[in-house]
Amino acid sequence: MTATYDDETFRDRFGPWAVIAGGSDGIGAAFAATLVRRGINLVLVARDEAKLSKTAALLREKYSCEVRCLSSDLTSPDIDEQIGSFTSDLDVGLLIYNAGSGRQMGSFLDHTSENWMRQVQLACNGPLALAHHFGRRLRDRGRGGIVLMSSLSSLVGSAYIATYSAAKAFDTTLGEGLWQELRPSGVDVVSCLAGATDTETFRDDTGGSPDAMDPKEVAEGTLDFLGSGPLYVPGAGNRAAAAALMSSTRIPLINGMSEINAKNFKLSYTQAKGLEFDEESA
Ligand SMILES: NC(=O)c1ccc[n+]([C@@H]2O[C@H](COP(=O)([O-])OP(=O)(O)OC[C@H]3O[C@@H](n4cnc5c(N)ncnc54)[C@H](OP(=O)(O)O)[C@@H]3O)[C@@H](O)[C@H]2O)c1
Repeated sequence: MTATYDDETFRDRFGPWAVIAGGSDGIGAAFAATLVRRGINLVLVARDEAKLSKTAALLREKYSCEVRCLSSDLTSPDIDEQIGSFTSDLDVGLLIYNAGSGRQMGSFLDHTSENWMRQVQLACNGPLALAHHFGRRLRDRGRGGIVLMSSLSSLVGSAYIATYSAAKAFDTTLGEGLWQELRPSGVDVVSCLAGATDTETFRDDTGGSPDAMDPKEVAEGTLDFLGSGPLYVPGAGNRAAAAALMSSTRIPLINGMSEINAKNFKLSYTQAKGLEFDEESA
C-alpha cells in the first residue's frame, strides 16, 4: 500500500513529538521504532520502568531522537492529567493508544467483576480520556493524528473473551466516529483491527501461532494508512477474515469464535441456538 503522506508531510503533520500509551513492548515498541525512523521524538508510557528505559536506550542508540519515558498505569482514573502535565511543554502531533490486552481472559463468572472492570479501564476509559485530551490539543494546532489499537475480536462477541471483544468494539467505533468528527480540524483518526501478532502478550495468552504477524508490519502499515480512512486491518488474510465477519449472520459466527476460544483456554464449548436479527421480525 502506498503511504497516505510522504515523509516530510508525515513529520510536519504528526511530529515533532508522538505519545505512545503502552510503548515499551510488542506492537507499541514497533510503533516507537517506526516513528523514530521517520524523525519523530517520543514519549513512551508503560508501567515497568526498567523495560521502558531499555526500549528508550535502544532507540536513542540507533537513531538521533529524543525519547522521554513516563512510568504510569493507564488504568489510573487521572491518566489524562498525568500524561497531560508530563507533555505540557511538548508539541505533540500524534497519540497512539496501544496498550489494551488486559491479560484477563477465560471464564466470565469465575473471575471477579473487578478483573473485567480493569480491562474496560485499560481499553475504553484510557483511550477515551487521552483521545479527548490530545484531540483538543491537536484541534488547536490544526493538524495531527490519533491511532487506537483495536482487534479483529471487536467484530464479534465470543465466550471467554467477552469483555475483551466488547472493549475492543468500543475502540473500533470510537475511532470511526472520531475519524468523521475530527477531520474538519485536520486531525486523522484510525482504529487498527489487528489479528494475531507475535508479541510477548500474545504468546503468553495463547501459546503463540506460526501465522502471527510481525509487530513491525502492523505498525508500519497502520502509520502508512493513517489519513486514508477510519479502519485499518493489517495483513491480507486478516482483511479477508474481517470482510467475512462484517457480512456474516451472527449466531454461527459467535458459535465459531466461542469454539476457537474454548479450545485456546481449554474450556467447554456447547453450540448455542437462537433467532437471528431480522428487520422483518418483531
Ligand atoms: N498481539 C496480538 O495478537 C493482538 C491482536 C489484536 C489486537 N491487539 C491489540 O494490540 C495492542 C498491543 O498488543 P500487544 O500484544 O503488543 O500487548 P499489550 O500487552 O496490549 O501491550 C504491551 C504494552 O502496553 C503496556 N501496558 C500494558 N498494560 C498497561 C497498563 N495497565 N498501563 C500502562 N501500560 C501498560 C506494556 O508495558 P507494561 O506491561 O510495562 O505496562 C507494553 O508496553 C493491544 O491493544 C491489543 O489488544 C494485539
